[in-house]
Amino acid sequence: MLTVKEMNDLEGKRVIVRVDFNVPLKEGAIRDDNRIVQALPTIKDLIGKGARVILLSHLGKVQHKLAEENPAKLEKQIKEGSLAPVAARLSELLNKPVVFIEETRGDVLIESVNDLQNGEVLLLQNTRYEDGEEKNDVALSNFWASLGDAFVMDAFGSAHRAHASTYGIPEILKAEGKPVAVGYLVEKEVANLNRCVDVKDGDRPYIAILGGLKVSGKIKVIESLLNKCDKILIGGAMAFTFLKALGHGTGNSPVEDDQLAYAKNCYVKANGRIILPVDTVVSDAFDPAIRTTVQTVSTGNVAECFQGLDIGPKTRELFAMEIARAKMVFWNGPMGVFEQEGFQKGTIAICEAIAKNEKAFTVCGGGDSAAAAKQFGYMDDFSHVSTGGGAALEMIENDGRLPGIDVVS
Ligand code: 3PG
Repeated sequence: MLTVKEMNDLEGKRVIVRVDFNVPLKEGAIRDDNRIVQALPTIKDLIGKGARVILLSHLGKVQHKLAEENPAKLEKQIKEGSLAPVAARLSELLNKPVVFIEETRGDVLIESVNDLQNGEVLLLQNTRYEDGEEKNDVALSNFWASLGDAFVMDAFGSAHRAHASTYGIPEILKAEGKPVAVGYLVEKEVANLNRCVDVKDGDRPYIAILGGLKVSGKIKVIESLLNKCDKILIGGAMAFTFLKALGHGTGNSPVEDDQLAYAKNCYVKANGRIILPVDTVVSDAFDPAIRTTVQTVSTGNVAECFQGLDIGPKTRELFAMEIARAKMVFWNGPMGVFEQEGFQKGTIAICEAIAKNEKAFTVCGGGDSAAAAKQFGYMDDFSHVSTGGGAALEMIENDGRLPGIDVVS
């Protein structure tokens, strides 16, 4: 796998870089610029080598199929998906102008690329404005590929998508004999996540902590982790599907009834290696505005009208004890509704236990867990915090393989 560090003779060359600038926005303002910051080493390296840097990224979802049934919704998605605020922030971080092109193809874009000088940076509008992006459309890939002399994949968060900008372009440029490489961020993510996939004896005990809402979205990752880890601690709403499958009362907690058989099988197969909550913080309502009661109950004692919204104190202690013994930890998914004040303790306890275990190699698998680690001030306590939620999970599921990385390897 060629890395951007090893790419030379780039003076005056047009280098297409796929970055993941899919940042959270609120009313047009960037709420977390981490993904832009993480792309800087690659962009700066290319600027330093005198390349003409052409950046491509998606932002949010743009469902072109809505064109007929709900054009207003599609228009809203397009408006909210503009990369204009990202271009402004990138320019601040680089301390130099970034040419932002409102188009994703056409003469203005072609002329602007032709006008780029050595060391200059151009960002084109959201790749998902193009219907062909997610379909890996050949004509679109060919057009974008024609803009570059080389390609760098640095969008780790999008490496599980075989789209035109993540897959089509490098496939074409590679076939044309042009250099394709991975950037600094992808190199770092792959090295850290591969350690969680290809487990060395010195990294045991290896503990995975899974949370979040759905078992169904994590079936493959649970199976893969069962083959790799010594123990899996399960919290968050997904624990209730396991608990119900084992015959415990779960009250009004969210349960995926169609996953009960799977959860039971999985638990039995794990032979004591899946650790479930022993107590739960429950409430009569998810919505704080109509909530009257919050209490802690032991597992199996959730009354009919109550739902679990966080792991309880005994579970926090149990999970912390397992984490303290670990040499390697992979965490994905919050333990409770950490967006609400009364239900943050479980997720904070995981972060705290990880922070205390300084000898372990600890990875936060992106998405909501990374947002929680940031919110509670634990980002620096992990050996690695992934910028990709879905990509990190798919990398674990697929034994280290992702289409957007395979294509440049
Ligand atoms: C992410 O935020 O996980 C990546 O940017 C990928 O986004 P997507 O799930 O919309 O493809």
